[in-house]
Amino acid sequence: MILPRPVSFTRGDGEIEWDGTVDGRISLDGPPGSYRVTIAAAPADGSAVVVEAADDAGFFYARQTVNQLAGPDAFRAAPIHRGPIRLPVCVIEDAPRFAWRGVMIDVARHFLPKHDLLRYLDLLAVHKLNVLHLHLTDDQGWRFESKRYPKLHEVGGWRPSSRYGDRRSGGQTGRPHGGYYTQDDLREVVAYAARRHITVVPEIDVPGHSQAAIAAYPELGVSGGGVWTDWGVNPNVLKADESTVDFYRNVFDELLDVFPSEVIGLGGDEAEGGDGRFVRRIAQHLAQRGRRPHGWDEVLDVGPLPTRTVIASWRGEEAGLTALERGHDVVMCPEKHVYLDYRQADDPSEPIPVGTVLTWEDVYSYEPAAADRVLGAQANLWTEHLDSPRRLDYAAFPRLSAFAEVVWSPAPRDIAEFRTRLTEHHLPRLDALGVEYRPLSGPRPWQLLPGVPGFPR
Ligand code: ACM
Repeated sequence: MILPRPVSFTRGDGEIEWDGTVDGRISLDGPPGSYRVTIAAAPADGSAVVVEAADDAGFFYARQTVNQLAGPDAFRAAPIHRGPIRLPVCVIEDAPRFAWRGVMIDVARHFLPKHDLLRYLDLLAVHKLNVLHLHLTDDQGWRFESKRYPKLHEVGGWRPSSRYGDRRSGGQTGRPHGGYYTQDDLREVVAYAARRHITVVPEIDVPGHSQAAIAAYPELGVSGGGVWTDWGVNPNVLKADESTVDFYRNVFDELLDVFPSEVIGLGGDEAEGGDGRFVRRIAQHLAQRGRRPHGWDEVLDVGPLPTRTVIASWRGEEAGLTALERGHDVVMCPEKHVYLDYRQADDPSEPIPVGTVLTWEDVYSYEPAAADRVLGAQANLWTEHLDSPRRLDYAAFPRLSAFAEVVWSPAPRDIAEFRTRLTEHHLPRLDALGVEYRPLSGPRPWQLLPGVPGFPR
């Protein structure tokens, strides 16, 4: 009946009329994020809804659950409900399955204006997701204001055109694209996220995916060139010389000043011909600053990294299992299960169909490998083909609703049962939130992009 499916839901007799109040206390002896909601007839001097939580996060999640019980209107930006709100008499006991319930948004390929980034934090929060991994830099754009090296955002923050559709067959838009966040914008994003018990994990990708930085400061790269207007893996990587490493140490220091997250992403993916020493030295620098480096699974190939480095296992789960053997903590994000830019149906009318087919059922069926050092899992939204918040909504939802339950609720999962909740509860809630998700029956006419070539695998 509710999302995410709680650990236990004990229904009593009847319903109560809810006045919108909650009595809460931090009194539960349970794991971080856990809570108990008791809904019964209101005592003379209190609320009918009593929350006992292990911590502030647990209290926050309990509020989301009560809103879910109250119905879709509870998710609107202002109350419109007329008449009493009825809640079932019940006791709900709930706790998160994983500590890392993440979403990555690639704001480099297409810039997501701050307003829309804040909206995504709201959407994560109602799904009890708690990590926003921000992919801030790539070949096609640099989105982090640097006070020390301002050409990074001034030059690296925009490109004159973009490939429209797949790189093997799509044309160019001929339309400039760009944007960057000021450091204060990002401090605001971090604070907004913290109020929703979400940690923002920033990533500056090195030594590949760096053409935007190289366009700003050509001496950083093995060859020159402007901010990239194409998609794919770019052979122009960062030089591994002392001055480039120093430059990036300074850039990461600016990043650390904005982002309090213990975990800090350094990328490390798809750096063909990149020098592993570069990654190692940046990782050591972050560790010396008291942070935990975080890299895509390719960083396992660069030689010994600080043990506290977190590995994001994206090419499958095998690399993650190797990382566990080496003593690292792991976030599972295997592309075949959680790359939400991949096409949602095997139908040529799917807008810009790329990757393998990844339906909401596939996402819901994903079981992350369980082990002590698997921190959790993360869904990734790469945005080569998601050039607007509307396109992002289409790719993210409802698959992200399915994913949220995978990382919050224990297995086993029943797809038929979830389909009912999806149809009767999640989608009306997403409608109330104004999310332009992909309908289960397929894209709406205005969600089609005829003539823009994809590349189905
Ligand atoms: C990745 O998908 N290149 C991490």
